[in-house]
Amino acid sequence: MIFSPESQSFPVMDSVPSTPTTRTTLSRCVRISLAAGAPPAPPAFNTFAGYPSVNSVPLWSEIVVEVTGAPKRGIGYVTSLAQIDQATRLAAADAFPQGIDSALQPRTAISSKLTELSSGISAHLGHPIARLTWRVSPYHHYSWDRSMPTTTTLSCQFEFAAAHRLNDPDLTAEENLALFGKCNRPNGHGHNYRLEVAVLPPHGPLFGMADLERVVAGTVLDRFDHRNLNVDCAEFATLNPTVENIAAVCFDLLRPMLAEEGVTLQRVTVWETAKTSATVEVAT
Ligand code: NI
Repeated sequence: MIFSPESQSFPVMDSVPSTPTTRTTLSRCVRISLAAGAPPAPPAFNTFAGYPSVNSVPLWSEIVVEVTGAPKRGIGYVTSLAQIDQATRLAAADAFPQGIDSALQPRTAISSKLTELSSGISAHLGHPIARLTWRVSPYHHYSWDRSMPTTTTLSCQFEFAAAHRLNDPDLTAEENLALFGKCNRPNGHGHNYRLEVAVLPPHGPLFGMADLERVVAGTVLDRFDHRNLNVDCAEFATLNPTVENIAAVCFDLLRPMLAEEGVTLQRVTVWETAKTSATVEVAT
């Protein structure tokens, strides 16, 4: 039966569709101060701002734990949030018994701490977690994924300011105006773009955040920052500089440059505004 407004009734299906197999991932952020000499053991009094309390200048982190599974019948939880909080704080206390070592370098030490944290949280929870992200600043994070347990992903954010105009030369002026609106104004307009680049470094040689920043600055920021993308940048001479295309161009520019250093580009996200972003990654 086909629904039509005239029928004023909902369709009756001939057969009940099979329930698709789904997977639920629960994500929980635990804010934690890892200042030296302040082991982050429970209990926590202010989980919003982070615990232990900030009495001086803390080494503040967010540890984001992801757990995959089906919500339990009745209670509806995949895992209790209180259990994740407790497990994360206990694992952090185990991993950083004297607080964090501010000279926690090189990257292999960070990787081993991520592995230690993820296995510690899994042990305290009683089942394996799927993913762990350690946000060491609002702009930098390391992450661990159960599917690649010996690999640490580095992610870093950047910004560049650029002007652009959205216009498709195959459309008429009227069609362009109707499609792109104010973004089609002839002299363009600007954005402060934010860029996040996530990479898988090589197992052998060290490749840290500073190396990632060097490559991104030389490959993307120097090329696009304070430019008119349509006029100044050959990449957009025949390519409309939408946020989708900017992310794709950044990905295509960065991938070979990173590969030269043995680094695999995992993902590029470009925010045009706080509300609009595009992500490009290799399809799986
Ligand atoms: Ni725009």
